[in-house]
Amino acid sequence: MELSEKNIAAAKYTPYDQWPTNHIENLQKKVQRSKWRLAYHIQPETGLLNDPNGFSFFNGKWHLFYQSFPFGTFHGLKSWYHVESVDLVHWENRGLAIPADTAYDSHGAYSGSAIPLNDQLRLFYTGNVRNKDWTRSSFQLGATMDTNGDIAKLKKPLIAELPEGYTSHFRDPQVFEYQDRYLMLIGAQTEHKEGHILIYESDDLLTWSLLGPLNFTDQQMGYMIECPHLVRVNKTPILIFCPQGLDQKIVSYQNSNPNCYLIADELDVTNRSLLSKQPIKRLDDGFDVYATQAIDAPDGRTLAISWLGLPEQGEYPVSVDGWTNCLSLVKELTIIDNHLYQYPVKEFHAQKTLVYEKQHTIDDITHVYQANDNCYELEITIPANKQGDLYLLADKQKNRYLQVTFDSASGIVHVDRSKVGLVQIEETNSVRTTTLPNYRSIKMNIFVDHSSIEIFFNEGYKVLSGLVFPEQEDTNIWIEGSELTYKERLYTISL
Ligand code: FRU
Repeated sequence: MELSEKNIAAAKYTPYDQWPTNHIENLQKKVQRSKWRLAYHIQPETGLLNDPNGFSFFNGKWHLFYQSFPFGTFHGLKSWYHVESVDLVHWENRGLAIPADTAYDSHGAYSGSAIPLNDQLRLFYTGNVRNKDWTRSSFQLGATMDTNGDIAKLKKPLIAELPEGYTSHFRDPQVFEYQDRYLMLIGAQTEHKEGHILIYESDDLLTWSLLGPLNFTDQQMGYMIECPHLVRVNKTPILIFCPQGLDQKIVSYQNSNPNCYLIADELDVTNRSLLSKQPIKRLDDGFDVYATQAIDAPDGRTLAISWLGLPEQGEYPVSVDGWTNCLSLVKELTIIDNHLYQYPVKEFHAQKTLVYEKQHTIDDITHVYQANDNCYELEITIPANKQGDLYLLADKQKNRYLQVTFDSASGIVHVDRSKVGLVQIEETNSVRTTTLPNYRSIKMNIFVDHSSIEIFFNEGYKVLSGLVFPEQEDTNIWIEGSELTYKERLYTISL
């Protein structure tokens, strides 16, 4: 069944069991024919994927859930879909985990987190409810998963009441252990339309009391904060969050909404303050990155995974294939010299096969390679004080391409996706920029997976990620520069 624009609104909140039985099968057929399916990223089986949820390690495996609407490529009735892995690389689909099917989550099982406790994984999420007048209520809800993977919802909400002075934009609980108790961060909006993060505390994960808003800045954080996460990288607290409608003077960004972070000195729960001398920054300099979820993993690492997609964004070209969006690679977060680094986890690198390694000198434009498939990692090292352009996802004539313009004297790199593929992305600004230390060499590790690209600069000092929709045969790589000697490695990736 093809849904017309008109029918989308009606279909948005149709309960899953009321969809025609062949609807998913029809979508599956389209998905199978899609040239943009990913080879090494988490993607929806059908329909739409958004935020990562409930990232955790439990019962000997990594667990991850994501926001899912399996019946269409628009933001419909959201549920949690479950995937699990032994190595953070190979993910197995486990199916629908938290449906939106009770009075407390009738219009969506929204984002949240998970923590293991004894022989259960405790899940925390937001129930989104609309009444007949379309007024929204938000409930913070709980569920448990046992060692068989069976999930049971708690009957009563953990937090049923909105705190005074706040609107029903109140969601995305992150629960973590802190000293002798548990804390929960919740994204919130004040009645004056200001974005806040609220902190609750609990001794038993069942009874929660409000401590108040987290004080981490004097500036206004837009009109709402979504998906707050507080983690510790070697004891240094890092706050990751998505302020909607943030003033560009505070953090400059070109996406519909930014995913930001703050490196703090210390979390002082008594005063609800996150002391920091550092400014708030963009977590990723790319096109489509949002709702990053981070965890303090039991092995001591801090791990993060992002939604490669954006809220309030028109449909991507891939929507015609019955699916849209994916998750990023799992990234390890580290801090070196007060700077946050993000890099794909070490487990991922075991999956790579070196195809070639060479050093080139060029004085014009050179055809570097024609990959069999847009599924590889390209590592390029540019010496200090050099300028040039790298073209990926290019056709033979170089009419279509993704352009990476680098200048290692200024340390500035631009990535332009306006010429990728025959299907143009309708956007007014197709260029994103990252800034690296100047007068130094630049190393780029570029992970290409059919319709996603993640560029890690200087071992993860900066990251620039996004979705791209090239033609299948556009697998050429070109480089242009004068008196440019650079190093290059190409790996294929197969899981
Ligand atoms: C962020 C978000 C969350 C919400 C979820 C709903 O992308 O809007 O705030 O819980 O998506 O799918």
